[in-house]
Amino acid sequence: MERHEFLSKLGIGLVAVCAGCSLVSCGGKSSNPGPSTGNATPPPTKGSGNLFSADLNTQLANIGDSVIQQGVILVRIASGNTADAFTAVQLACTHQGNSIGYNNGQGIFICPAHGSEFSKAGAVLQGPAALPLQKYTVTISGSTLTVSA
Ligand code: FES
Repeated sequence: MERHEFLSKLGIGLVAVCAGCSLVSCGGKSSNPGPSTGNATPPPTKGSGNLFSADLNTQLANIGDSVIQQGVILVRIASGNTADAFTAVQLACTHQGNSIGYNNGQGIFICPAHGSEFSKAGAVLQGPAALPLQKYTVTISGSTLTVSA
């Protein structure tokens, strides 16, 4: 075999191998979320009424304190015992359903699975999640906060 012929055949082989790698990469990096495979409790359906209550003095006394129940994460985001000092959003990330957490320093929700970020109101700040988090209603009576859907 001539040197030129050998190099030519080697080049064709490398192109075939690289093309195979590219196809595998495309299949594994879909930007579309697949079926929910995460670990979080699914979010409550809108209109399902009262979900849970929390005590403002013992469970949510400080900014950044949170309560997780029934597929919802409730966080104190400001001082004072008014409804706008709290936010309640679905716990399950809209990408693939893993549990999000609240980062008090940044004031945002972050999903540790693939890095999606959401505002306090649940809007997408960074993907791969494409859909916002469901937000729930907060009402306060005395020292009791109630989250409802
Ligand atoms: S599950 Fe993928 S970013 Fe949250």
